[in-house]
Amino acid sequence: MKKNKLIFFLRKLGPGFLFRSLRAKIILGVSLILILVTGSFTYYETTTRIQFELKKQEKRAFDISAAVLKGIEYPMLDGEMEDVQEILQKVGMLEGLEVVKLIDLFDTIRYSTDPDSIGKVNESEITLNALRTKELTKGLESYKGKKVFSHAIPIHNEQSCFKCHGSEKDILGVLTVGINWGPIEERIVALRNQKIAVEVISLVILAFFLIRWLSRYVTHPILKVTEFANEVSRGKLNAKLDLGKRANIWQIYKTHPGDEIVQLRDSLTYMLENMRGMYEKISLFSKDLESQVAKRTEELEQKTAELEQVNIDLKKLDELRSTFLANMSHELRTPLNSIIGYTELLLDRIDGDITEEQENSLTKVRNNAKNLLNLINEILDMSRIESGRVEFDLREIDVRDIIQTTVASLEPIIHKKALMIDTDFDENLPLAYADPDRVRQVITNLLSNAIKFTSEGRIILSARHSPKTKFVEICISDTGMGIREEDLGKLFDMFTPLDISATRPHGGVGLGLSICKRLVEMHNGNIWVESKYGVGSKFYFTLPVKE
Ligand SMILES: Nc1ncnc2c1ncn2[C@@H]1O[C@H](COP(=O)(O)OP(=O)(O)O)[C@@H](O)[C@H]1O
Ligand SMILES: [Mg+2]
Repeated sequence: MKKNKLIFFLRKLGPGFLFRSLRAKIILGVSLILILVTGSFTYYETTTRIQFELKKQEKRAFDISAAVLKGIEYPMLDGEMEDVQEILQKVGMLEGLEVVKLIDLFDTIRYSTDPDSIGKVNESEITLNALRTKELTKGLESYKGKKVFSHAIPIHNEQSCFKCHGSEKDILGVLTVGINWGPIEERIVALRNQKIAVEVISLVILAFFLIRWLSRYVTHPILKVTEFANEVSRGKLNAKLDLGKRANIWQIYKTHPGDEIVQLRDSLTYMLENMRGMYEKISLFSKDLESQVAKRTEELEQKTAELEQVNIDLKKLDELRSTFLANMSHELRTPLNSIIGYTELLLDRIDGDITEEQENSLTKVRNNAKNLLNLINEILDMSRIESGRVEFDLREIDVRDIIQTTVASLEPIIHKKALMIDTDFDENLPLAYADPDRVRQVITNLLSNAIKFTSEGRIILSARHSPKTKFVEICISDTGMGIREEDLGKLFDMFTPLDISATRPHGGVGLGLSICKRLVEMHNGNIWVESKYGVGSKFYFTLPVKE
């Protein structure tokens, strides 16, 4: 399966697949240049070496020739031809010498280190040339199947020779020294081959490091970017570009044959197309969104306008209520006060005597009228507080005075019950900073409640100072009926007279405590209650001290 895949892959890539990657191309180029440079360098070096060797051998051959000529001069003059042959034979023993021979003007070998060739026709082209041109001739040629460096110099006819050879001829023959070239050439070739081997190995190592370097710093990052672009173009928008990780080269080549740059181009083009598509979708979507927002804004504006209208209506209504309350205050309180006043006149018998029955009825009229007046006053107070139309006349007040005057004003009701009233004040009670009328209202309320809900026992009004909180704390405690635990939480809510059966005979609609709470809180104070059902209650409130 895996093999099939690979074959399919290679077929798809085509024959040039090896050179398809950018890396392969760069390496191929660099290698070619390197081979060319080192090759020509090696070639140049080898040829100079050959030239050098030739020069060296030429010098050697020349030296040998000179020595031979010198050596044979006297044997020749003396006509001792054997000695000439012997000298040649000896010289021929020198290392690397292939042949030394003397040729006469008829190209016949007269003396030679190779005795077999004596008397035969010379076959060396170079020797023949020297004979013809009468000049030193040298070069490489083949001698008996071997490569030799031949060095042929003409032997000039000198005065000493005239005796035997006469004076017309200018040369007498040619002396040829043949040096064996084979070993020299072998040495040069071996050196060259060695060099080539070193070069090839260095090239391979270089290529290896080049591949690593290229793939790490050039092609691999490109592939990673390509892979990344591929993923993004496929809609994987959370793709990450991690250059440290290996790229999945097979995956990339499968989809984009061609080198890395081509792949990158394809991927980026694909990505761009997708992005264009996305952009179109987004712009469509945003247009839709805009129209929706516009619609909603319009709706909102309409609603706001409606609300504004409702607000205006509400304000009007509030004004109406205020005027109504003001009117009611006047229209109800005036007649009620006159009812109370006249009833009291009658009760005081100022208009004449009345019967006991009449007195009872008139007392009921007076009490109910007072309750009604009280109720109206509470409703008016609450409504003023609710609409924020209460003004405070803040000043430094002595809480003790207010408590005492309030107790005095309620004395008549207290005396009707078997109640003891006590006060208890801190010695250095500071002045509180509050509206005296409002404070009196709060204390009256709490004290009337205490009297109302206590049939016998004791009521204590106390005031103390807590320097830590900088507040004066007032407490009204009674030994009355107390409040059930479950009712404590709703005590200060509006219109909550508790346990109707118990409180009904006492009158009241349950506004007093909520008015107290508002008034105290408007002074930045606090109000709370501690109570035990059947044992008694303690109502506390605090007022600020002027700093
Ligand atoms: N000192 C108290 N002892 C027992 N119950 C009390 C006391 N003060 C208030 N309450 C309870 O709290 C209720 C609410 O009091 P309040 O707001 O003054 O209204 P109201 O006096 O008109 O009934 C009273 O109806 C009563 O049930
Ligand atoms: Mg009350």
